[in-house]
Amino acid sequence: MPRARFAWQYLLHLTGLRRADLSEVTLSNYVAMYCDRRNTIRNRRLATLQGALLPRMVSKAADDEIRARSKELLTDELVNNPMAGGTSRAMVTKLVFDFLKAHPEEIRSVANIGASVDSQCAYLAPRFPDIEFTSVDFSPDLDKVNAYLPQSPNWKFKPGYALDMLQNGELEADLFFMTSTSVCFSPPELDAYIAAFARQGRYVIFNEPWWPAITSLNLFKIPRPEEIPAGQAILGLVYFNFQSNYLAMLERHGFNVLSSRIVPTAGASWYTLQIIAERA
Ligand SMILES: C[S@@+](CC[C@H](N)C(=O)[O-])C[C@H]1O[C@@H](n2cnc3c(N)ncnc32)[C@H](O)[C@@H]1O
Repeated sequence: MPRARFAWQYLLHLTGLRRADLSEVTLSNYVAMYCDRRNTIRNRRLATLQGALLPRMVSKAADDEIRARSKELLTDELVNNPMAGGTSRAMVTKLVFDFLKAHPEEIRSVANIGASVDSQCAYLAPRFPDIEFTSVDFSPDLDKVNAYLPQSPNWKFKPGYALDMLQNGELEADLFFMTSTSVCFSPPELDAYIAAFARQGRYVIFNEPWWPAITSLNLFKIPRPEEIPAGQAILGLVYFNFQSNYLAMLERHGFNVLSSRIVPTAGASWYTLQIIAERA
Protein backbone atom coordinates (compact mmCIF):
# COMPACT_ATOMS: atom_id res chain seq x y z
CA MET A 1 0.00 0.00 0.00
CA PRO A 2 2.70 2.58 0.88
CA ARG A 3 4.43 1.60 -2.38
CA ALA A 4 1.25 2.33 -4.39
CA ARG A 5 0.89 5.66 -2.56
CA PHE A 6 4.48 6.53 -3.30
CA ALA A 7 4.01 5.64 -7.00
CA TRP A 8 0.81 7.71 -7.17
CA GLN A 9 2.42 10.76 -5.56
CA TYR A 10 5.49 10.35 -7.76
CA LEU A 11 3.30 10.34 -10.86
CA LEU A 12 1.36 13.42 -9.72
CA HIS A 13 4.61 15.24 -9.21
CA LEU A 14 6.20 14.08 -12.48
CA THR A 15 3.19 15.27 -14.44
CA GLY A 16 3.33 18.62 -12.68
CA LEU A 17 -0.07 18.14 -11.02
CA ARG A 18 1.52 18.34 -7.59
CA ARG A 19 4.25 20.83 -6.79
CA ALA A 20 6.84 20.30 -4.08
CA ASP A 21 6.48 22.45 -1.01
CA LEU A 22 9.92 22.16 0.54
CA SER A 23 8.73 23.56 3.85
CA GLU A 24 6.04 20.93 4.36
CA VAL A 25 7.38 17.78 5.98
CA THR A 26 4.55 15.29 5.43
CA LEU A 27 4.74 11.82 4.01
CA SER A 28 3.01 12.63 0.72
CA ASN A 29 5.04 15.78 0.23
CA TYR A 30 8.19 13.74 0.79
CA VAL A 31 7.74 12.18 -2.60
CA ALA A 32 7.45 15.57 -4.27
CA MET A 33 10.48 16.82 -2.33
CA TYR A 34 12.51 13.77 -3.31
CA CYS A 35 11.47 14.11 -6.94
CA ASP A 36 12.32 17.80 -6.91
CA ARG A 37 15.81 17.14 -5.53
CA ARG A 38 16.48 14.38 -8.08
CA ASN A 39 15.33 16.70 -10.89
CA THR A 40 17.50 19.62 -9.80
CA ILE A 41 20.65 17.83 -8.64
CA ARG A 42 22.55 18.77 -11.82
CA ASN A 43 21.29 22.36 -12.14
CA ARG A 44 23.96 25.06 -12.15
CA ARG A 45 21.55 27.61 -10.70
CA LEU A 46 17.99 27.88 -9.51
CA ALA A 47 15.66 27.47 -12.47
CA THR A 48 12.92 29.52 -10.84
CA LEU A 49 12.88 31.71 -7.76
CA GLN A 50 9.16 31.01 -7.30
CA GLY A 51 9.45 28.17 -4.82
CA ALA A 52 12.26 29.85 -2.95
CA LEU A 53 10.51 33.13 -2.13
CA LEU A 54 10.32 33.93 1.54
CA PRO A 55 6.88 34.79 2.87
CA ARG A 56 6.04 38.34 1.84
CA MET A 57 4.64 40.66 4.45
CA VAL A 58 1.21 40.50 2.89
CA SER A 59 -0.64 38.10 5.12
CA LYS A 60 -1.30 38.06 8.84
CA ALA A 61 0.03 34.48 9.01
CA ALA A 62 3.36 35.44 7.42
CA ASP A 63 3.66 38.44 9.71
CA ASP A 64 2.87 36.31 12.79
CA GLU A 65 5.51 33.79 11.80
CA ILE A 66 8.14 36.48 11.27
CA ARG A 67 7.27 38.11 14.62
CA ALA A 68 7.57 34.73 16.34
CA ARG A 69 10.97 34.06 14.73
CA SER A 70 12.14 37.58 15.59
CA LYS A 71 11.61 36.86 19.27
CA GLU A 72 14.45 34.37 19.03
CA LEU A 73 16.90 37.08 20.02
CA LEU A 74 20.46 35.97 20.52
CA THR A 75 21.99 36.77 23.89
CA ASP A 76 25.62 36.53 25.02
CA GLU A 77 24.68 33.44 27.06
CA LEU A 78 23.20 31.65 24.03
CA VAL A 79 26.06 32.57 21.74
CA ASN A 80 28.69 31.55 24.30
CA ASN A 81 26.99 28.21 24.86
CA PRO A 82 24.56 27.38 22.02
CA MET A 83 23.91 23.88 23.41
CA ALA A 84 22.20 25.44 26.45
CA GLY A 85 18.93 26.51 24.81
CA GLY A 86 20.27 27.79 21.47
CA THR A 87 19.71 26.73 17.87
CA SER A 88 21.80 26.38 14.72
CA ARG A 89 21.59 30.20 14.47
CA ALA A 90 23.35 30.59 17.83
CA MET A 91 25.92 28.05 16.64
CA VAL A 92 26.80 29.95 13.48
CA THR A 93 26.86 33.24 15.40
CA LYS A 94 29.45 31.80 17.78
CA LEU A 95 31.60 30.64 14.86
CA VAL A 96 31.46 34.05 13.18
CA PHE A 97 31.87 36.00 16.44
CA ASP A 98 34.96 34.02 17.48
CA PHE A 99 36.42 34.31 13.98
CA LEU A 100 35.93 38.09 13.84
CA LYS A 101 37.51 38.46 17.29
CA ALA A 102 40.49 36.35 16.18
CA HIS A 103 40.98 38.38 12.96
CA PRO A 104 40.69 42.06 13.95
CA GLU A 105 41.53 44.52 11.13
CA GLU A 106 41.29 41.84 8.40
CA ILE A 107 37.53 41.72 7.93
CA ARG A 108 35.58 44.86 7.01
CA SER A 109 32.45 43.28 5.54
CA VAL A 110 30.37 40.18 6.28
CA ALA A 111 27.42 38.72 4.34
CA ASN A 112 24.89 36.16 5.56
CA ILE A 113 23.50 34.27 2.55
CA GLY A 114 20.02 32.77 2.99
CA ALA A 115 19.61 35.07 5.98
CA SER A 116 15.81 35.02 6.33
CA VAL A 117 15.00 36.48 9.79
CA ASP A 118 18.61 37.35 10.56
CA SER A 119 19.07 37.19 14.32
CA GLN A 120 22.78 36.57 13.65
CA CYS A 121 23.54 39.93 12.01
CA ALA A 122 21.21 41.65 14.52
CA TYR A 123 23.48 40.29 17.28
CA LEU A 124 26.84 40.79 15.55
CA ALA A 125 26.41 44.27 14.03
CA PRO A 126 26.33 46.28 17.30
CA ARG A 127 29.27 44.25 18.65
CA PHE A 128 31.44 45.00 15.59
CA PRO A 129 30.49 48.60 14.68
CA ASP A 130 33.41 48.94 12.22
CA ILE A 131 32.28 46.00 10.10
CA GLU A 132 29.48 46.21 7.48
CA PHE A 133 26.96 43.37 7.76
CA THR A 134 24.64 42.41 4.89
CA SER A 135 21.72 39.98 4.98
CA VAL A 136 20.96 38.40 1.61
CA ASP A 137 17.84 36.44 0.68
CA PHE A 138 15.16 36.24 -1.99
CA SER A 139 12.37 38.16 -0.30
CA PRO A 140 11.78 41.58 -1.86
CA ASP A 141 10.67 42.59 1.66
CA LEU A 142 13.84 41.44 3.40
CA ASP A 143 14.08 44.69 5.39
CA LYS A 144 10.48 44.27 6.61
CA VAL A 145 11.07 40.59 7.38
CA ASN A 146 13.82 41.82 9.72
CA ALA A 147 12.09 44.93 11.01
CA TYR A 148 11.18 43.41 14.40
CA LEU A 149 14.83 42.80 15.24
CA PRO A 150 17.04 45.53 16.77
CA GLN A 151 18.56 47.52 13.89
CA SER A 152 22.10 48.87 13.50
CA PRO A 153 23.50 51.48 11.09
CA ASN A 154 26.10 48.94 9.88
CA TRP A 155 23.48 46.27 9.01
CA LYS A 156 21.91 46.29 5.51
CA PHE A 157 19.68 44.08 3.37
CA LYS A 158 20.10 42.83 -0.18
CA PRO A 159 17.08 41.05 -1.61
CA GLY A 160 17.62 38.75 -4.58
CA TYR A 161 19.42 35.66 -5.78
CA ALA A 162 22.85 35.75 -4.11
CA LEU A 163 24.57 33.83 -6.91
CA ASP A 164 23.51 36.37 -9.53
CA MET A 165 24.61 39.24 -7.28
CA LEU A 166 27.99 37.63 -6.64
CA GLN A 167 28.57 36.92 -10.31
CA ASN A 168 27.68 40.42 -11.48
CA GLY A 169 29.66 42.15 -8.72
CA GLU A 170 26.66 43.52 -6.77
CA LEU A 171 27.55 41.55 -3.65
CA GLU A 172 31.01 41.66 -2.11
CA ALA A 173 32.26 40.73 1.35
CA ASP A 174 35.45 39.67 3.10
CA LEU A 175 33.59 36.92 4.94
CA PHE A 176 30.53 34.99 3.70
CA PHE A 177 28.61 32.78 6.08
CA MET A 178 25.49 30.69 5.90
CA THR A 179 23.47 28.34 8.01
CA SER A 180 20.95 25.76 6.76
CA THR A 181 21.31 27.33 3.32
CA SER A 182 24.13 25.81 1.26
CA VAL A 183 22.46 22.38 1.61
CA CYS A 184 19.75 23.86 -0.65
CA PHE A 185 22.39 24.23 -3.42
CA SER A 186 22.83 21.43 -5.94
CA PRO A 187 26.53 20.41 -6.32
CA PRO A 188 27.09 22.52 -9.49
CA GLU A 189 25.37 25.50 -7.83
CA LEU A 190 27.50 25.12 -4.67
CA ASP A 191 30.56 24.95 -6.90
CA ALA A 192 29.46 28.18 -8.66
CA TYR A 193 28.98 29.88 -5.26
CA ILE A 194 32.44 28.82 -4.06
CA ALA A 195 34.00 29.96 -7.36
CA ALA A 196 32.33 33.36 -6.85
CA PHE A 197 33.50 33.58 -3.20
CA ALA A 198 37.03 32.81 -4.39
CA ARG A 199 36.97 35.76 -6.82
CA GLN A 200 36.59 38.39 -4.11
CA GLY A 201 35.97 36.98 -0.60
CA ARG A 202 38.66 35.93 1.83
CA TYR A 203 36.82 33.68 4.23
CA VAL A 204 33.78 31.44 4.19
CA ILE A 205 31.94 29.77 7.07
CA PHE A 206 29.33 27.03 6.60
CA ASN A 207 27.10 25.76 9.41
CA GLU A 208 24.85 23.19 7.78
CA PRO A 209 22.49 20.41 8.92
CA TRP A 210 24.07 17.03 8.23
CA TRP A 211 22.23 13.71 8.08
CA PRO A 212 22.82 10.09 7.13
CA ALA A 213 22.04 9.55 3.44
CA ILE A 214 18.46 8.60 2.57
CA THR A 215 19.92 5.59 0.71
CA SER A 216 22.22 4.55 3.56
CA LEU A 217 21.77 1.05 4.92
CA ASN A 218 23.21 2.24 8.21
CA LEU A 219 21.22 5.18 9.55
CA PHE A 220 23.71 5.58 12.38
CA LYS A 221 26.53 6.33 9.98
CA ILE A 222 27.02 10.06 9.51
CA PRO A 223 28.92 10.53 6.23
CA ARG A 224 31.99 12.73 6.24
CA PRO A 225 31.93 15.32 3.43
CA GLU A 226 35.26 14.06 2.07
CA GLU A 227 33.72 10.57 1.58
CA ILE A 228 31.23 11.96 -0.94
CA PRO A 229 32.50 11.75 -4.53
CA ALA A 230 33.55 15.23 -5.73
CA GLY A 231 30.87 16.90 -7.82
CA GLN A 232 28.12 14.64 -6.47
CA ALA A 233 25.73 14.94 -3.53
CA ILE A 234 24.01 12.47 -1.29
CA LEU A 235 20.46 13.35 -0.28
CA GLY A 236 20.15 13.69 3.50
CA LEU A 237 17.35 12.14 5.50
CA VAL A 238 14.28 14.17 6.43
CA TYR A 239 14.70 17.23 4.16
CA PHE A 240 16.58 15.54 1.30
CA ASN A 241 19.29 18.19 1.65
CA PHE A 242 22.09 18.17 -0.88
CA GLN A 243 25.16 17.03 1.07
CA SER A 244 28.24 17.62 -1.06
CA ASN A 245 31.98 17.26 -0.76
CA TYR A 246 32.61 20.85 0.36
CA LEU A 247 36.29 20.20 1.00
CA ALA A 248 37.09 19.11 -2.56
CA MET A 249 35.23 22.13 -3.98
CA LEU A 250 36.86 24.62 -1.61
CA GLU A 251 40.33 23.27 -2.34
CA ARG A 252 39.68 23.23 -6.10
CA HIS A 253 38.88 26.95 -5.92
CA GLY A 254 41.98 27.83 -3.92
CA PHE A 255 40.67 27.79 -0.32
CA ASN A 256 42.54 26.28 2.61
CA VAL A 257 40.14 24.51 4.93
CA LEU A 258 41.02 25.81 8.40
CA SER A 259 38.58 23.49 10.16
CA SER A 260 35.90 20.96 9.29
CA ARG A 261 33.90 19.12 11.92
CA ILE A 262 30.57 17.41 12.48
CA VAL A 263 28.96 18.31 15.80
CA PRO A 264 25.55 17.79 17.43
CA THR A 265 23.01 20.50 16.55
CA ALA A 266 21.85 22.76 19.36
CA GLY A 267 18.16 22.29 20.11
CA ALA A 268 17.72 19.47 17.59
CA SER A 269 18.45 15.80 17.12
CA TRP A 270 20.60 15.94 14.01
CA TYR A 271 24.20 16.92 13.29
CA THR A 272 25.80 20.04 11.89
CA LEU A 273 28.73 20.33 9.53
CA GLN A 274 30.87 23.34 10.41
CA ILE A 275 33.55 24.44 7.96
CA ILE A 276 35.82 27.48 8.05
CA ALA A 277 37.94 28.15 4.97
CA GLU A 278 40.39 30.84 3.94
CA ARG A 279 41.37 31.76 0.40
CA ALA A 280 44.98 30.73 -0.05
C1 LIG B 1 16.25 26.66 5.60
S1 LIG B 1 16.29 28.37 5.30
C2 LIG B 1 17.49 28.91 6.49
C3 LIG B 1 17.27 30.35 6.86
C4 LIG B 1 18.23 30.91 7.93
N1 LIG B 1 19.62 30.85 7.51
C5 LIG B 1 18.03 30.19 9.25
O1 LIG B 1 18.86 29.34 9.59
O2 LIG B 1 17.04 30.46 9.90
C6 LIG B 1 17.19 28.43 3.77
C7 LIG B 1 17.32 29.84 3.24
O3 LIG B 1 18.13 29.82 2.07
C8 LIG B 1 17.52 30.53 1.02
N2 LIG B 1 17.88 29.79 -0.20
C9 LIG B 1 17.35 28.61 -0.63
N3 LIG B 1 17.91 28.23 -1.79
C10 LIG B 1 18.84 29.17 -2.09
C11 LIG B 1 19.74 29.36 -3.18
N4 LIG B 1 19.80 28.47 -4.17
N5 LIG B 1 20.55 30.48 -3.19
C12 LIG B 1 20.48 31.37 -2.17
N6 LIG B 1 19.65 31.25 -1.11
C13 LIG B 1 18.83 30.17 -1.07
C14 LIG B 1 16.03 30.51 1.34
O4 LIG B 1 15.36 31.65 0.83
C15 LIG B 1 15.99 30.44 2.85
O5 LIG B 1 15.86 31.69 3.48
